[in-house]
Amino acid sequence: MTSLAFSLITYAVNPKQIAAERAVTYIRDGMDVGLGTGSTAAYAIAALGKRLQTEPLRLRCVATSLATEELARAQNIPLAAWDDVRRLDVTIDGADEADPQFRLIKGGGGALLREKIVAAITEAEIIVVDNSKVVPALGAHPLPVVVVPFAWQSTQARLRERFGVEAPPRLAPDGGMFVSDDGCYVLDAAFGAPLPSPDTLEAEIKSVIGVVESGLFLGHCQRLIIGHPDGRIEEKAPPGQ
Ligand code: A5P
Repeated sequence: MTSLAFSLITYAVNPKQIAAERAVTYIRDGMDVGLGTGSTAAYAIAALGKRLQTEPLRLRCVATSLATEELARAQNIPLAAWDDVRRLDVTIDGADEADPQFRLIKGGGGALLREKIVAAITEAEIIVVDNSKVVPALGAHPLPVVVVPFAWQSTQARLRERFGVEAPPRLAPDGGMFVSDDGCYVLDAAFGAPLPSPDTLEAEIKSVIGVVESGLFLGHCQRLIIGHPDGRIEEKAPPGQ
């Protein structure tokens, strides 16, 4: 009985949720806010919606995917058009992996192109993760690479020739090709850990003809909030942030 009660208490904490809820405390009246994609970012959207029910926050938000846009609308979160916003005060987004240098792999949900555009115009990118996403070296999670659909196979071949990496196309649940919100395909490059030269790899991948974007995010994370299953929340920031 005691051990059952103990395990119920232990598992009552959702590490993704507590990290996301902490991140939402950084949102202030008058801010322009980027809304990330994925299950962790969804908790942040729910928490922001809750705050808006009781606080008269004037916000303009940009969604990084159609799914996020839908979640935000359901929470009555005010959305701005992409081209109406040139900079964002804060973005809250998830990640698939984060290393000690605050480098990230993102794109498990396929929204990496919009996520990177949003990250690039954000003053304070807050990444929210559960502790399982924090790794000593990136690469165990495949690196998502967005490619133009009409030449995906030749782009895949170029990636193989250049990096010796297998990058199978991501498939949709129905077995067909996964198509991103922007009409692109995603190849999941299985580099393995450690990812070779992460600091130069992003630019190298981008230089391959047919590649639109990669899920390697360098220098974008200004704050990493990590939720633990025991209820602890860690906050980390790169030096100088
Ligand atoms: C979406 O494209 C991704 O970048 C997500 O942020 C990432 O996959 C993390 O997702 P979860 O929060 O669902 O783990």
